[in-house]
Amino acid sequence: MEREELLLSRLIEYGKSTAYPFHMPGHKRQVQEAWPGCFPNPFSVDITEIDGFDNLHHAEGILKQSMEWAAKVYGADKTYYLVNGSSGGILSAICAVTRSGGTLLMSRNCHKSVYHGVILNQLEAEYVYPQIMSDLGIQGGIRAEDVENALEQNPGIQAVLIVSPTYDGVVSDVRRIAEIVHEKGIPLIVDEAHGAHFPFGGTDFPESAIACGADLIIQSLHKTLPSLTQTAVLHMRTGLVDEKRLERYLQMFQSSSPSYVFMAGMEACIYEMEQHGRQRMQAFAVLLREVRKQLFGLRHLRLLGAECIGASGVYDLDRSKLVVSCRGCVIGTRKENRLGLTGEAFGDWLRKDYQLEMEMCGADYVVAIATAWDSPEGLGRLADALLAIDARLELEGGLESGAENSQSCGQPDIRWKLADAVEAECEALPLTACAGRISGEFIYLYPPGIPIVAPGEVVTEAVIRQVQYYRDQGLPVQGMADNRAEMLNVVMVRRET
Ligand SMILES: Cc1ncc(COP(=O)(O)O)c(C=O)c1O
Repeated sequence: MEREELLLSRLIEYGKSTAYPFHMPGHKRQVQEAWPGCFPNPFSVDITEIDGFDNLHHAEGILKQSMEWAAKVYGADKTYYLVNGSSGGILSAICAVTRSGGTLLMSRNCHKSVYHGVILNQLEAEYVYPQIMSDLGIQGGIRAEDVENALEQNPGIQAVLIVSPTYDGVVSDVRRIAEIVHEKGIPLIVDEAHGAHFPFGGTDFPESAIACGADLIIQSLHKTLPSLTQTAVLHMRTGLVDEKRLERYLQMFQSSSPSYVFMAGMEACIYEMEQHGRQRMQAFAVLLREVRKQLFGLRHLRLLGAECIGASGVYDLDRSKLVVSCRGCVIGTRKENRLGLTGEAFGDWLRKDYQLEMEMCGADYVVAIATAWDSPEGLGRLADALLAIDARLELEGGLESGAENSQSCGQPDIRWKLADAVEAECEALPLTACAGRISGEFIYLYPPGIPIVAPGEVVTEAVIRQVQYYRDQGLPVQGMADNRAEMLNVVMVRRET
């Protein structure tokens, strides 16, 4: 390998480019801004559990004090630093509140780490389905009444887990859901990976699940705050969670050599938020309002905004997620050469012509993650680019009904328990030959990592069409037997002899 091919060389080179990040991490590579006084050379502060520096897995000294202080900052009863991202916190939370072989009620639009927790603890997954905003093809929220009905129908449910906000910034009525779940005497876990900024957002941003009464709340600091990738926090409310079990699983799912660079970074991030977070979030809210006002002018592209609140299970919306739909947009001056604009093509357009990198491209939309560490220039570049693309659509394309790219595959037909299907004997078949068979693996777009099909579910014609479509559009289909997303492992059918 040549020196310039090293990952480090590539990262340094990329850092010098004019590409602007509308993706994680939340610090947006604005180190000086994010770390007043500047972060030191990481090697100079990289240590292990030496005398005086405590031990994350048996915290008795400075780390214990630090996590107790963090809990006060957040208004939680207890806060744990996570060095394996929210994923490690989610696995620990699930295992801590369910018994092996038990049942978890979870929202279907959960991140793959939730499914992994279900598999690891051999759980039965009961799903509560998010509503769909049909005009945009985007998932809405989880309705409290759907959680209530599911709990009535299955008294064996041991815990409930929902994702709020979603990748797209949709917030469910966590307060009401927590009340319903608590009436059954069981805990509510909220995957708030995308909402680490909520506790500092005042009335400009949604209320955090911590304040809404959830029992375990997991937040990725790295997604929306100035903290290094992989850093996250798990907050606990005492009462329904066995602290010792939780700590046992945190030890199992996290490295036994937690990085002091990460931990120091997390603590500094929370300190920064405690000191200046509220003012910064206020200024950010003003900036976001200006950007959103500019984008009122869009005629073909559509920005998801507050108008969605109150329908499709949407209780609130995180305005810092700029979800821009290109649903129904076509480009081409003559009818014969008109092409539908897909989310992937839209993301490419923003990258190639405007050097703006999105967090995610869906079938019909892109998601730009904005944080309080974005510069006004960066946000201005995004607004200008969207207006310019919209003007181009006005001149050379437009909106056409029937040009939508995403369809729902409907609710899954579940035949096997997730853990059993993952361990079952499988055969790899071309996707097109899988109709009617039971999947042995996940298929999802990553990001966001929400399964289109999960192990143990029937692969329907609709699923096949959807996956083929995503693949042909160049969207990141993952989880299948081969990287080209052509082969799928399906459960072997045993022939009776
Ligand atoms: C909704 C959601 N939950 C959890 C995670 C996992 O977070 P982490 O990357 O911090 O492990 C992600 C990652 O993108 C996510 O989108």
